[in-house]
This record gives sequence, structure tokens and C-alpha cells, in this order.
Amino acid sequence: MVEWQKSDWRKKPRIQMPTYSDNAALNAVEGKLSSYPPLVFAGEARRLKAQLGAVSRGEAFLLQGGDCAESFSDFSADGIRDTFKVMLQMAMVLTYGAKVPVVKVGRMAGQFAKPRSADMETKDGVELPSYRGDIINDLDFTPEARIPNPDKMLQAYLQAAATLNLLRAFSTGGYADVHKVHAWTLGFTQGDEAEKYREMANRISDTLDFMEAAGIRKEASHALETVEFYTSHEALLLEYEEALTRLDSTSGKWLAGSGHMVWIGDRTRQPDGAHVEFCAGVQNPIGLKCGPSMTTGHLKALMAKLNPQNEAGRLTLIARFGAGQVGENLPRLIKAVQEEGANVVWTCDPMHGNTIKSSTGYKTRPFDSVLREVREFFGVHNAEGTVPGGVHFEMTGADVTECTGGVRAVTDEDLSDRYHTACDPRLNASQALELAFLVAEELSARRTVMAQSKAD
Ligand code: PEP
Ligand code: CO
Repeated sequence: MVEWQKSDWRKKPRIQMPTYSDNAALNAVEGKLSSYPPLVFAGEARRLKAQLGAVSRGEAFLLQGGDCAESFSDFSADGIRDTFKVMLQMAMVLTYGAKVPVVKVGRMAGQFAKPRSADMETKDGVELPSYRGDIINDLDFTPEARIPNPDKMLQAYLQAAATLNLLRAFSTGGYADVHKVHAWTLGFTQGDEAEKYREMANRISDTLDFMEAAGIRKEASHALETVEFYTSHEALLLEYEEALTRLDSTSGKWLAGSGHMVWIGDRTRQPDGAHVEFCAGVQNPIGLKCGPSMTTGHLKALMAKLNPQNEAGRLTLIARFGAGQVGENLPRLIKAVQEEGANVVWTCDPMHGNTIKSSTGYKTRPFDSVLREVREFFGVHNAEGTVPGGVHFEMTGADVTECTGGVRAVTDEDLSDRYHTACDPRLNASQALELAFLVAEELSARRTVMAQSKAD
């Protein structure tokens, strides 16, 4: 067999990628990126893979979230900190509420390139190429802004490096210390969920005081004072991915150095396409979006291609069917996985199948549909006796009004107040917390049922 090369995707059909008009400029950027340090280290990706292996067996839960599209203009320390805070709060709700270790993965530090449903966008009779994420072109609606510019890859790399640097500092520098459980609350979160969180945080502080008094704290302190936080993004812009791919000297295997985990989008998962070819050759944990059009035949071919050794933690199937469509799609794909005896993590993306246009013209997601899809996902796994391993969602620590509903009831009319996303609508901090409490309830209910069936 001829060995896999990081440029092999170039021989395969590619879709959802820009055509750069200036080849010399593109080559110069690729050359530079290839000489820059990778953003992540192979040992970290292997560690995440092992933790995802535990998720696949139901011994841990995957929490994956962040922006739909990171943006150059919204880049700030406060933005990163606030999204990180919401992730920590959600993880705490799950760890404390459902007594399950949580594997935390941000859609951060590389989530720049976007697939689009339409190649062109029309506004007031003017037609221009679609915006494809800040790593490719600009959001401004002008012909110049929409031209793909390879130099933007360099800015994306620098922003990803700086983001990851801050995340690493937050994770181990004291910020994520569980004793700060109250401090992760964002000023604007109010209502029942915020109150529920405060009560839980009080109980945690109480437990910590007890542990300290009992002299237990010292030994446990490292685990309580730091978190492991991983990064992920869609591996869509393959010139960028290839340039950051490195051979890992420890294992002799290739690593996508752009992030710990990368995923393949629902539009680019053709078994013989460029994106699958690229992801098949790198050792990182891989995500695969599964929408309603995923056939069992394709899923089987993709599992064979992406995880030929059937390694636990290598492949995460991200179900994104839409509320009301889980019952007809998830069981058939679960059956395909079982027929192959494949090890996978099943996670639920309740965002991408629930996007609608609001009465006021904004692209939005009704929060009720988001919650409903999560409930349906758990319902199917409970019925099938399989493991609901995690959730994958788009959220932000900023106080936005992009998804309708939730405890602070965002209406169609409210959307215009603080609609800031460059791409898909995100949950705000209050909605994200509400989602975490629902997931914790679902997980606790499962634990009770499983404990009962063991006792019977
Ligand atoms: C995304 O995760 O932002 C995305 C585009 O998802 P999907 O490929 O599932 O539509
Ligand atoms: Co999105």
C-alpha cells in the first residue's frame, strides 16, 4: 500500500472550498504556515482520544461548544474568557448534577471556515459570492470583500495561537479552580437557571470547605484547581489543514496540528471526497456530522475509511437531524454501527437541524426545538440501550439575542437587539445553562434506570 500523504486530498473531488486566483500568493502562505509551529501536540490529541474512548463506553460525557464561526473583529480576551466561563459552568452542572466526568472541547482556536448552502448571496437585487468565514473572505457585502484572500490564513493562525495560549493559561493558571465556581457566573445571567446554578455552587463550596476541614484537600488539589480543555473545528479549508499537518516522531503518524479534534461537515462527507481523504490520514480524534441525508451505506463506508482499526475514541458521530426527525434517523444509523461492531461516540448537535427564518427576517433557532432534539436523542439511546455520549452546540458567553425562547424569552422582535453572529445563531449564556440542566437531568434519570436494572 502506498503511504498516505498530507496532500493526497488534492487528487479527490473537493467542494465548499474557495478558488484562489493568485497561486503565487497562496503558495507563499502555505510555505509560511508549513514552517510555523503546530498549535497542538500529538500527545494531547492522543489523550483526548483516550478520554473519548471512555465517553464511548458511557464512562464520561463530551461537552463540545463555541462559536459557529470565530471572527477577526470580535477577537478579544473577554470574549474568550466568557465563552470559557460558560463551558466551565455547563461542565460543573453536568459533573455535579449527573456525577459524570466531562470532556471539554471548545469550537475555538481554529473554527473559521464555513460551508454554505448557496454559493451566491443576493441582497436588494445585487448578487455576490457568499461569505465563507474570516479565514477565507470578508462579511462586508462588497465585491472586493468577498474575494478569497490566502493571507487571511496567516491571521487565522495567529488568532488561533493567541486564543489557545489564553485557554491554556485559564485552564491551568488558577482561573478554572473549582473554588472559583461562583466567579464563573456572568453578570447578566438571571432567572431560574442562574438561581439554580448559584444554589449548586453554594453546595459545591460547602463540600470543599468540608474537605478542607477534613484534611482531604491537599491530595485532591491538582484535579480541583485545573481543567483539561481541548480545541476543535471543522477541517474545511484543506490548504490550511495540510500546511499545519506534522509527522509525530513518537508514533510515526500524522497529526493535524491545527487543533486537537477536527470534524467533517454534513456537506463535505462524501466517502471519496477530499475532506474524508484528509481526515482519514491524521491521527486526531475525528468528528463526523450526520444529517438526515446520511445513508447507512455511506456511514458504513465512512467508518471503514475513518476508523479502520476500530479504535475507541477515534470517531465521534455528531447527530444533527432536527427536532422531530431523530426518531426516524438515529435508530437506523445506530443499527448500522452495531452491524459493523464499530466503536463510536454518539453526540447530539441540536443546532444545525433547527435553523429557521424568523418572522423578522433573522436566521434563528427556537430554543424549544433545541431542547426537544436533545430529549429525542436521549430517548432513542435509552430505548436502544446505546450510549448518548455528548452534546455539541453553538454558544457564546456574550449576552446575545440570536436563538428565540429560553427562560429570558427572546422573541422574534428581540432578535435585532443583539444579533452579532457572523454565521449561525448561538445560544446565549442563560440558554446554554438551561440546556446543561436538561442534559444533567437526562443523565441522572439514565443512571437511576441503569442502577435499577442492575439491581433487578
Ligand atoms: C457547523 O457545525 O457549523 C456546521 C456547518 O454544521 P453542519 O456541517 O452539521 O451543517
Ligand atoms: Co453553525
